[in-house]
This record gives sequence, structure tokens and C-alpha cells, in this order.
Amino acid sequence: METKIFKVDSAESPLIREAADILKSGGIVAIPTETVYGLAGNALDSSVTQKIYKAKGRPSDNPLIVHISEFSQWAPLVKSIPETAKALADKFWPGPLTVILPKSDIIPDEVSGGLDTVAVRMPSDEIARKIITEAGVPLAAPSANTSGRPSPTSARHVIEDLSGRIDAVVDGGDCDVGVESTVISLAVSPPRLLRPGGITPGMLTEVLGEIEIDDAVYNRLAEGQQAASPGMKYKHYSPKAQIVLIKSDLDTFIAYAKENATESSAVLCFEGEEKDMPLRTVTYGKKDDALSQAKHIFDALRKLDEIGADKVFARYPKSDGVGLAVFNRLIRAAGFNEIEL
Ligand code: TXA
Ligand code: MG
Repeated sequence: METKIFKVDSAESPLIREAADILKSGGIVAIPTETVYGLAGNALDSSVTQKIYKAKGRPSDNPLIVHISEFSQWAPLVKSIPETAKALADKFWPGPLTVILPKSDIIPDEVSGGLDTVAVRMPSDEIARKIITEAGVPLAAPSANTSGRPSPTSARHVIEDLSGRIDAVVDGGDCDVGVESTVISLAVSPPRLLRPGGITPGMLTEVLGEIEIDDAVYNRLAEGQQAASPGMKYKHYSPKAQIVLIKSDLDTFIAYAKENATESSAVLCFEGEEKDMPLRTVTYGKKDDALSQAKHIFDALRKLDEIGADKVFARYPKSDGVGLAVFNRLIRAAGFNEIEL
């Protein structure tokens, strides 16, 4: 199939109607959100959600997030909305937070990956919300990458992975946050953080009091261990290169990279450090600035492939606040390969 490209510079663009028409007639369309691009389709039609899994090559037990543009669209999707969920939505929606609750009967099994819960979020990106509103139905939308590849933060990334496999891409420019939404489950008590993102553990605790952080946020799941969030058990964000995350000061890092480099090695470092590095460099944001690291990390991982790096020495991100989201993605991209010097 030919993938149409709609270049859209605001939520007023007439092309949004065209994209929504494709969604209404059962097509699948990549759309921009403030986090990453999503591959959207009617969440209430299982034949459509099957197409999404197929285009991405996604395992069918990995559930999809349902995207809404109005608060009133939430209640029909879930059994009930507890006060805690309402408080979270009041504070953080629209925005990069996904809330998991027991699902209602209208959610197809394909969307929930066979679980009895459903993940819902209301994006803050105005183009995304307008597309949902015009489509007239909640939209299931996993990240619009081939399963296992770094998530897409620009239309170019989507086209790289999915051109010819989806009906259209709405190109709304680069994503602001750059990592996927924070995922919290309110289907368990205390609430459990399943995936860190732009909404930090501290921000969640302010509204919810005590929360638990799922093991899989920091660690590789042991063989046979059940994943609370099925996405966590899959290999993720992986460039072809073998990445090693190095916790050390800059001088020690440089010496180590020099000593252990192969001919095709590269360094993944912070902006401004390039000139001191003994190897080719790709940067991911500024040192001590987790927001800029989040915004650039996925593009950086793709660039490492583009330059043909086989072994990559990566500078260690801060791992608190939004930095926890960056750390979580990078440690997975590295296959949990880290050293402290
Ligand atoms: O920012 C985002 O969340 C982006 C944009 C497009 O909105 N979407 C996204 O979707 O990242 P996806 O499918 O790539 O990641 C969804 C994650 C997966 O790890 C999945 O396992 C988890 O959320 N998830 C979805 N529904 C769940 C459920 N009912 N219970 C547990 N985990 C769930
Ligand atoms: Mg994804």
C-alpha cells in the first residue's frame, strides 16, 4: 500500500479531516503526540487493532494504550473511575500520563492483550486531540515504530520503519517530550508505576501518596518472571550496536573508550563533550538536563545505526525525575550492560 503523508502545522489544518476520514473507515494512521508518534486506529474495532499489531510486528500479548480527547470518553472504557484516577486526570491530563484500570466489555481482547485492564491517556498535543475528536472514537495507538526499534519522535522515523505498511502519517514535526508516557496502574493497591516518563514519581506521589515502582523499571526481568506491563519483557529500543553504559567521570570515560574501541566504535555523549572524545560521537541532550536528554535519546539511538557503530560507549544519564525515564530506555537499549569505573 502507498502511505500518504499529511504535513500539518496546526490543529486547524484541513488535512486533519482527511486523516480522520481514513481512521473512520478502518484505516491505520501514524499521528504525532507530545511524547512519541503513535500508530492509531479505532480502539473499539478488533479488525483494526489487529492491523496495528501486524504493521508493527508486535507480539499480540502486548496491550495497546487507548487515546481520548474528552474526559467523557473515559467512563465507557473502564469498569469505574475511582477518586484517585480522577485526581490524576485532573492534574495531569491532557499530558504524558497513561492510567490503567479494570476494563469494560467494549474493549476488544486485542487491545488489552488478553488482560482484564485497559490503559488510557489523553495527549496534550493539539493535533493529536483534534484527530481523535474528528475520528469520533477512542484511538488505540502504540508507538509508531517497528516492534523492538527505538520509538519514533519525528515523521521521518515513522516513515523509516512503516512506509508501505500503514495508510498515512500525519507529520506534525518533532515530539516535545521524546519518551513515551508514564504508565501507572490503579488496578492494584498501592498504585504501581510500570513505565517512567515525563510525569515523574515525585509528581505522582504528590497526588496519590504512596506508590510502588515496578521491578521492571530498573531491572531485567528474570526468566519466567511475570511482567506487570507486558511491554517490559520485550527487547526494546535496541540499535544494532552493542551499547555499554559507563558510570564514571569524563576523563575516566574517555580513557576507557580509547582503550576499548574497535574500528567502528562510537561514543554516545552529551552536547559540548564531542571535541574531547577519541571516537565518532552522537549526542543525546545536555549533561544534567534530563528534559533535553529525553527529547533526543531515541533519535540518537537511530543515528548510531545510521553511522554503522558496532560498539558504543555511552555516558550515564541522571536517573531521578524525568531522568528515570531516560535511564530506563537507555539501560534497555544497552541490554542492561553497564559498568562503573
Ligand atoms: O506516550 C505513549 O504512551 C505512546 C504515545 C503514542 O501515546 N504510546 C506508547 O504505546 O508508548 P506502546 O504501545 O508503545 O506502549 C504501551 C505500554 C507497553 O509497555 C504495554 O505493555 C503497556 O503500556 N500497557 C498497555 N496496556 C496495559 C495494561 N492493560 N496493563 C499493563 N501494561 C499495559
Ligand atoms: Mg512502544
